[in-house]
Amino acid sequence: MSSTIKESKGEWGSKIGFILACVGSAVGLGNIWKFPYITYENGGGAFVLVYLVAIVVVGLPIIVAEMMIGRHGNQNVYTTFRDLSKNNKFWKLLGVLCLFSAFVILSYYSVVAGWTLDYFWQSLRGEFASMSIEQSGPRFGAFVGNGWKQIFYHSSFMGITGLIVWKGTKGIEKAVTILLPMLGFFVFLIACLSIYKYGSSETVNFLFSSDLSKLTPRSILEAVGHSFFTLSLGMGAMVIYGSYLKKGERLISAGIWIATLDTLIALMACFMMYPIIFGTKMALSSSSSMLFTTLSVHFNALPGGNIVGAIFYLLVAFAALTSTISLLEPVVSFAMDTFNISRNKSTLFSTVIIWLLGVASALSNGAVKFFTDLDVLTRLDYLASNWTLPVGGMLISIFCGFVLSADEKRSELSSFEARVIYPTWNFLIRYVSPILVFIVILNMIGVFSK
Ligand code: PHE
Repeated sequence: MSSTIKESKGEWGSKIGFILACVGSAVGLGNIWKFPYITYENGGGAFVLVYLVAIVVVGLPIIVAEMMIGRHGNQNVYTTFRDLSKNNKFWKLLGVLCLFSAFVILSYYSVVAGWTLDYFWQSLRGEFASMSIEQSGPRFGAFVGNGWKQIFYHSSFMGITGLIVWKGTKGIEKAVTILLPMLGFFVFLIACLSIYKYGSSETVNFLFSSDLSKLTPRSILEAVGHSFFTLSLGMGAMVIYGSYLKKGERLISAGIWIATLDTLIALMACFMMYPIIFGTKMALSSSSSMLFTTLSVHFNALPGGNIVGAIFYLLVAFAALTSTISLLEPVVSFAMDTFNISRNKSTLFSTVIIWLLGVASALSNGAVKFFTDLDVLTRLDYLASNWTLPVGGMLISIFCGFVLSADEKRSELSSFEARVIYPTWNFLIRYVSPILVFIVILNMIGVFSK
């Protein structure tokens, strides 16, 4: 088994390479597709406030915890929890929960990622060039309702992800360094254009004026759940990435960078789309279509808009790819070590099974009535983002807080971090993060309202 563990391991070339890989995992559809639409559905302001608080008091301490556990355990997610807890049955189950989340998320994530490929291709071909706002919703509806296209794009995305995890991520690390800043720049530029054309006051109001009375238990859970989703927490991605990190790198400052960049991109993504929706009084066919319907029309009005649109959707596809890699990697390294098989076999095996589950999501937006009635994609997203990730994150936080000893934890921090930040962080990880998540869950299941 030890040889396969070695085979599964890599090491980050530089600190910035590591941070960018983590940012690559964190920044994805969660920021650009999901955050704007769930914020819109949940009425803005108060939801954003809960989300921001969750990022700081729950997400940030847990990113550090996951990277720390990963670097300390130095194996796949399952064996890390198993060995660090000295074979404790309960903590082994946490490893299983993490893998379950990765499995479920990747299955539908790849479907949505596939949509970006179609929008890239159709932008390039100029399909949106003469499309009006009224036509863009039905166009989206027809596209997601076309079963063959859905399966084609879902398969393509899963295929590319599998290929990269199989061949190794070296090239990707290099690409991330260029493409991620490019995506950030594009999102910023498009947001500026939207604001210039349609104004920003309604968007600012919507996002930042918090009427806390609007919050429901469900929207609080969604905000907290999304803070896990967007930072790739609660399922071991950061544990795996941490295990590739050399000793001596500063985990806390890395965590702060990751959370800040991720949050900035999510907020900017809202500024790309909301001004268009508010300014044109655009009726959305469904809020989850926002990324596709608002922007494809917006790009039209720009000189060379089809090229700008194509580049944008391609960059989003790339951001999604760096996230899908981090979802597949924990599953692949687990299967390699557990079944003692090669990376190739493990990748093939995992990709095919996840792909199969994804087919149900791919056909659930109008293509096949059975899956559409079950609303598979939305339900799996709800299950993973709002239940398995927060529960996983809460347990990881307890694990790091109570199972790892103070010496083990301090040894993973720089001397400055160990001296100055450790006490506060350890308090957050032991008590604040898990208790807050627990309260949010109890609130959701109605314990406080009875
Ligand atoms: N954080 C990614 C995003 O925002 C999604 C993701 C979730 C990736 C969990 C890995 C693990 O798109």
